Amino acid sequence: MDGEGNVLAGLLTTAHGFETAIATGRSVISSRRSRGSIATLFYEPSTRTRLSFELAALRLGKSVVSTEHAKDFSSAVKGETLEDTIRVISSYGVEAIVLRHTENGAASRAVAVSSAPVINAGDGDGEHPTQALIDLYTIWREMDRTDNLTVLIAGDLRFGRTVHSLVELLARFHGMHFVLVSPPELQLPPRLTKWLPKTKARFTEYVSLSVALKKHKPDILYWTRLQRERFPPATEFQNLAEQYRLTPKIVSSLPKSSRIMHPLPRLDEIDSKIDRDPRAAYFRQAAHGLPVRMAILDWVTG
Ligand code: NCD
Repeated sequence: MDGEGNVLAGLLTTAHGFETAIATGRSVISSRRSRGSIATLFYEPSTRTRLSFELAALRLGKSVVSTEHAKDFSSAVKGETLEDTIRVISSYGVEAIVLRHTENGAASRAVAVSSAPVINAGDGDGEHPTQALIDLYTIWREMDRTDNLTVLIAGDLRFGRTVHSLVELLARFHGMHFVLVSPPELQLPPRLTKWLPKTKARFTEYVSLSVALKKHKPDILYWTRLQRERFPPATEFQNLAEQYRLTPKIVSSLPKSSRIMHPLPRLDEIDSKIDRDPRAAYFRQAAHGLPVRMAILDWVTG
């Protein structure tokens, strides 16, 4: 991984420093850090991503301008293109634009016209790279390593953008084995299943969770929500949802050292009784959003 690996290692270490500062109430605002503004532009609903980015900017001593319902309240309503909006916002001298959009590829379109760095905070059913960094950080904090892992990913691997970015990120590490569990309609997109054999990672696909768990002892169970809002009309949602529900009985068969992750929001695909299990790492994972996004903003604007 080399250069890329150094950046990743640097981000993890910086995030850890910020995690400690948050826990001890220590300020990280310093004269070495720029005090500019970041813009958050969200065309799709968000709770964690937008608030953690905005809090991250404030903690670093930056100011934030934001449009939360950009689809309804920005000039998009008047028919302005994303490109024109980005050109204008970047011309205001912001240090970075954090963009969430409904369309796959929107972040790349924004990058092509922006004079400020653009951070992809989720583009349709495409990518969600900052969530993948939070997931990587969580794996490092929980497992004390980021290689030689069996990572079972279940649910909606087709429309779940966090899965796409996570697979692309983890495949760069040594000894990764992805156990991919989903209904045939919701398998990982071909662009990724065609790319994976060119990496160091191995992957095996299953439809049945019980069969997958008989064959593999996962270190990480990465559970996902079925992205109902992205399904083609008339998809049998309920039927699919019932097959991918994580229950206490399934969890009792997992290795003691394993961890359960989920990018959240969780609906009923994880029984809330599991929340008390020490292996349930999803709320710790969500909390890592703040230090990791601080590290990302610090790197991008530093
Ligand atoms: C995810 C997303 O927006 O893709 N949420 C998040 O940012 N943590 C996952 C989801 O919506 O299911």
